[in-house]
Amino acid sequence: TYVVTDACIRCKYMDCVEVCPVDCFYEGENMLVINPSECIDCGVCEPECPAEAILPDTENGLEKWLELNATFSAQWPNVTRNRGAPDDADEFKGVEGKYEKYFS
Ligand code: SF4
Ligand code: F3S
Repeated sequence: TYVVTDACIRCKYMDCVEVCPVDCFYEGENMLVINPSECIDCGVCEPECPAEAILPDTENGLEKWLELNATFSAQWPNVTRNRGAPDDADEFKGVEGKYEKYFS
């Protein structure tokens, strides 16, 4: 499966949602997540994200993010339409430690 990571927080560009063939993105206030049991591992969303927030869970150190994607995809609403990024999205691109500061 692919997972959405820290880099999405407060960027939320939403380019990812429209390319997913199985519509498995879910939306929280400050980031999106992927439902790992619905993702078919096609990989098309990864290069679409301007923040490089989407990674395959085979990369080292992503256990926390896999768990977070699984947990919140079960609670947050499904999202399939790109309504555009927040106005200040670019200010948060590449910023470190966003989870600790802004996750909700
Ligand atoms: Fe959707 Fe494919 Fe990305 Fe999984 S890898 S979230 S199926 S676009
Ligand atoms: Fe987030 Fe990237 Fe999608 S910033 S909303 S994972 S395009």
